[in-house]
Amino acid sequence: MKEQAILKNSKVLVTGGAGFIGSNLCEQLLEQGNQVRCLDNLSTGMRSNLEHLMEHPSFQFIEGDIRDYKTCEQSTEGIEYVLHQAALGSVPRSLKDPMTTTDVNIGGFVNMLFASVQAKVKRFVYAASSSTYGDHPDLPKQEHIIGNPLSPYAITKYVDELFAKNFSASYGIETVGLRYFNVFGRRQSPNGAYAAVIPKFVIQLINHESPVINGDGSYSRDFTYIDNVLHANQVACLASSDQLKAARLEYYQQHGLKPEELDVISEVINVAFGGRTNLVELVNYLKTNLAKYDPEISEVEIKFGPNRAGDIPHSQASIEKGKMLFGYDPQYSVEEGLKIAVDWYWKNLK
Ligand SMILES: NC(=O)c1ccc[n+]([C@@H]2O[C@H](COP(=O)([O-])OP(=O)(O)OC[C@H]3O[C@@H](n4cnc5c(N)ncnc54)[C@H](O)[C@@H]3O)[C@@H](O)[C@H]2O)c1
Repeated sequence: MKEQAILKNSKVLVTGGAGFIGSNLCEQLLEQGNQVRCLDNLSTGMRSNLEHLMEHPSFQFIEGDIRDYKTCEQSTEGIEYVLHQAALGSVPRSLKDPMTTTDVNIGGFVNMLFASVQAKVKRFVYAASSSTYGDHPDLPKQEHIIGNPLSPYAITKYVDELFAKNFSASYGIETVGLRYFNVFGRRQSPNGAYAAVIPKFVIQLINHESPVINGDGSYSRDFTYIDNVLHANQVACLASSDQLKAARLEYYQQHGLKPEELDVISEVINVAFGGRTNLVELVNYLKTNLAKYDPEISEVEIKFGPNRAGDIPHSQASIEKGKMLFGYDPQYSVEEGLKIAVDWYWKNLK
């Protein structure tokens, strides 16, 4: 594994830090010697994800809601880097309750962004989403080519990008949007109606229940191991403004794009491994890895159900822009990540 650049001795706010991605960020940033503040309202996240960090002298937990501007102001005070993860995920949740998803994902986002402007943070790095590509059929997905969003969730994530760009232009805040592609790994919750597919399938297989794939199993995704996402957040903070300006000019020229008029940093990059795995392949990887612990799991049959509203058939990222601008260099393929994730689930949830 290659040695990668790390953020040290910095004051970092992680919103959504009690969730899957946020708790992994808090843990890693503390290990690297940063001061970490976490803001979370524990709506989908869990205190237990942070229990092992609560007594750490450089860790502070604020239980609060990003929809409350005062809370955002207090949370950003003295902070250098904001890693904004707090949001309500899940396409089906956003179709069932678009109002709350919009309040949190857009209203809360603007609160955090404006509070970060006022606090003069060095950089505002935020969780964007591959759902922004919507119905555009091109593969691999390049950041500047997007289609129509297919769900309220996707709209909120795209609107966030627009706000970030506008705030960079209006207030000079440096922003980096990380379009995550189907992230998986330790601490991703298998519970609840809106659980992500990998932990849900793992638990079903452990219990010898048939995982139900929506559609015929040919739909494919660029499943991304959590450690690649942690690395993306690091490089998003670390790349210097001058390095970014020079690299983005070269990137735009190479792709025949209109040069960026903004003098301030405001970028969006894909965060993925750059591969593609269909759902049948995914379940087969899980079965093979779990069968090491319980051979009977290899006999569990897959079931197929109807396609889900708002789902696109295929998704795969180009990670060229992230590589060129930030030196993003993901180290874990889907196979490697799944092996580690399955071991974690077996030890922690069995
Ligand atoms: N997991 C993925 O595959 C994926 C893919 C694309 C984008 N994302 C984005 O990454 C981010 C993190 O996702 P995750 O998978 O860790 O989800 P998660 O649900 O585990 O974490 C989100 C956290 O935000 C907190 N939160 C929600 N509403 C809040 C509010 N109003 N105020 C304060 N905290 C609030 C939750 O309690 C939770 O701890 C989200 O912005 C999500 O949209 C995730």
